[in-house]
Amino acid sequence: MPTMTFPDGFDWGCGTSAYQTEGAWNEDGKGESVWDYITHSGNVSPGFNGDTACDFYHRYKEDIALMKRLGLKTVRFSIAWSRILPEGKGQVNQKGLDFYDRVIEEMLAAGISPLVNCYHFDHPLALQREGGWTNRDMAGYFADYCGLLAAHYGDRVKRWMVMNEPWVFSGGLHISRLGDWTTGLRVMHIVALAHGMAARAIRAAGKPESITTAFDTPGVYPASDSEGDRAAAERRWRMHNAFFIEGVLAGRYPEFYLGGDQTQLLGVQPGDMELVKAPLDRLGVNIYAREIIAYVPSEPHINACAVVPPAGVETFYGMEVYPEAVHQVLTRMWNDYHMPLWVTEIGCNYVDFPDANGVVNDDRRVRFLERYFAQMHRAIQDGADVRGCHVWTIMDSLEWTAGFEMRFGLVYCDPATQQRIIKKSGHWYRDLIAANSLHC
Ligand code: FCB
Repeated sequence: MPTMTFPDGFDWGCGTSAYQTEGAWNEDGKGESVWDYITHSGNVSPGFNGDTACDFYHRYKEDIALMKRLGLKTVRFSIAWSRILPEGKGQVNQKGLDFYDRVIEEMLAAGISPLVNCYHFDHPLALQREGGWTNRDMAGYFADYCGLLAAHYGDRVKRWMVMNEPWVFSGGLHISRLGDWTTGLRVMHIVALAHGMAARAIRAAGKPESITTAFDTPGVYPASDSEGDRAAAERRWRMHNAFFIEGVLAGRYPEFYLGGDQTQLLGVQPGDMELVKAPLDRLGVNIYAREIIAYVPSEPHINACAVVPPAGVETFYGMEVYPEAVHQVLTRMWNDYHMPLWVTEIGCNYVDFPDANGVVNDDRRVRFLERYFAQMHRAIQDGADVRGCHVWTIMDSLEWTAGFEMRFGLVYCDPATQQRIIKKSGHWYRDLIAANSLHC
């Protein structure tokens, strides 16, 4: 049984987000968010919504005690923009600020370093009514909001995350809601502008030890060894995995577009790229699976399309469980950018309930995490400077439109009774953290 020891000081943690856990959707002056609107419009698996979720708003003390029991050194959580600024701008809601003061102080008292993520998909509905991320003014609103957070919490919070998965809420998943790729690509640029302006605002207002963002970066593999598929996979990597990162680090976007003038397509205006460029201290990468990419000439813009994983492989969200992707992404990110890396999410959906003895034996999650951490260790051995990892997620929480039908937690949560039970994987992770070594 090989032993894989992680670097000294490796940051072992977990991630969560506001909408998925807090509940209290309209309490203490909170404004409505786009996700309140989406779930109230009946788009979530029946019986679930974020009105209560895991009730973290009221149970944060109990839950932070659980985080401490797991031995977590760091926790990334997000702030609900509409709790702080119910309309997205203007009037500040003091009770919203107070709630996160309590959360941060409780974490610090538990010896956990808070990593505050300013945005995890849930912007105020009032701003959506002005066009949401299709509106260039969002960049300024977002930067003002982030600056306000850093000014208020910056004396205690040293680690900041500007946003989670910019590709997912702009060009990627939400494209279907926006309707078309052309809009999606313009939104990507507006989000990149917002990101750059917000990173600067955080740096100016607080005294951060580190600023990062969680970029969603699947492994990307060609469907075959043909030149067409290999080139298509490379375009997909650039559009999906490198677009924001290179914009932020280098102030230019990678070339991926085959249909003409990429700058015009994105709606880049003079002076924008200086704002997009915003030095981060660490690159955060969320790695779940791989995409298999084929050359498909009829696909607009990049002539590339993800193909269905081979029959029989294990999948979630239609993606393949593929540990080697962790190694591919970490080594390529390190080789391309030489920036310290943080794995800001890895995790898996397995639905396991307590047995007659009240024990949750999620052996599949333990096996999944062993295989993914082994690949992380391999990337570190190969030279990648990986400083830590946030497993997604602490407890089963509202998995967006899938409700609680998808469960990613190390801790079981019953949304009806709000009972929590540490799963086998939670105990396994506690032991891994304590040993700083993986045995498998
Ligand atoms: C990520 C999201 C997170 C959760 C996991 C499963 O893309 O950041 O909120 O939904 O997937």
